[in-house]
Amino acid sequence: MIWRSASFEDIRRYDGLPLTSEHRPPCSFGSAAIPPNSAEIAYWSGETGARWATFNEQLDRTFAPLSGAGLRCANVGPGQALLDIGSGCGATLLDLAEAVGPAGTVTGVDVSPPMLALAEQRARSRGLGNVRCILADAATHPFDAAAFDVVFSRFGVMFFDDPAGALANVRRSLRPDGRLIFVCWRGLAVNPWFSVPADAVRPYLAPQPPPDPDAPGPLAFADPNRVCRILEGADFADVRFDEFDARLRLGDRRSATQLLTHIGPAARLLALADDGARAEAERALEHALTAHESNGEVWLGAGVWIVSARPKRGAAIALDDGADAD
Ligand SMILES: C[S@@+](CC[C@H](N)C(=O)[O-])C[C@H]1O[C@@H](n2cnc3c(N)ncnc32)[C@H](O)[C@@H]1O
Repeated sequence: MIWRSASFEDIRRYDGLPLTSEHRPPCSFGSAAIPPNSAEIAYWSGETGARWATFNEQLDRTFAPLSGAGLRCANVGPGQALLDIGSGCGATLLDLAEAVGPAGTVTGVDVSPPMLALAEQRARSRGLGNVRCILADAATHPFDAAAFDVVFSRFGVMFFDDPAGALANVRRSLRPDGRLIFVCWRGLAVNPWFSVPADAVRPYLAPQPPPDPDAPGPLAFADPNRVCRILEGADFADVRFDEFDARLRLGDRRSATQLLTHIGPAARLLALADDGARAEAERALEHALTAHESNGEVWLGAGVWIVSARPKRGAAIALDDGADAD
């Protein structure tokens, strides 16, 4: 596993992009206003959320090195009040709850009922009385102002239609000296865990238009310059990116194939296929994984950013303050 660090200034120099605020207007299509994040909320509330709950144990094992890296960066301690955004089935929620101990609290917010239900059940069965779960859109939920010491997320912040607006909402829930820390995927080139399965199934499916790199989705925060602009737009400062690479252990070939055909980009592609094409594509995926086996297990590389930031000094905490400042 490799750590490399780049400061905000390094990234600013990297391609000279001006760091202007980015505030996309609320989503509207024609004259009919569609509630923000509708597509992703529907996606995570239904079949996909249920699949994450089913594959929860395998996913937790697979992502463990990535959580570990994010949690080490967060370095939370006893007594703190934390928020976990897109807390899913609770992997990091539970680790955070143990780290803050009974004097601290951890709030998980998520839009997916099946994932949140599993998180609550796991917290109960571990006897963690300091965990609270909220079924809500983190972009718009009226969190108490200045309530949290740390806002954390593992792969839960890339799904907002208006990421700067959503993160501004989250920022208001942070104490002025609080910290935001999230783990997000870097690009496809450093994530064979995405590209190997997707490349294996693609030939069997109807051609798809190239994805919009800025659209909500797992890779929406791959570009650090974009993430900087978003965080600046949300009134964060002291933005820092740490690169972390790991080899993900996916289990034996059969269980790796099962996981990758149900979760992740190959699964998103397979959802568009008819039964015949799907069966062929799944066989091709399983075959492609043979090249990545070692001692009977499949290993695929993954690369993430661990991004940290602090509220900009003097940033508005209440929504009304923000409105007044305009
Ligand atoms: C890739 S999963 C990550 C789950 C969990 N953090 C983990 O690492 O296992 C993304 C999570 O973000 C949640 N999510 C997506 N949009 C959200 C929103 N607007 N507000 C809160 N949660 C959201 C999904 O329901 C899902 O649980």
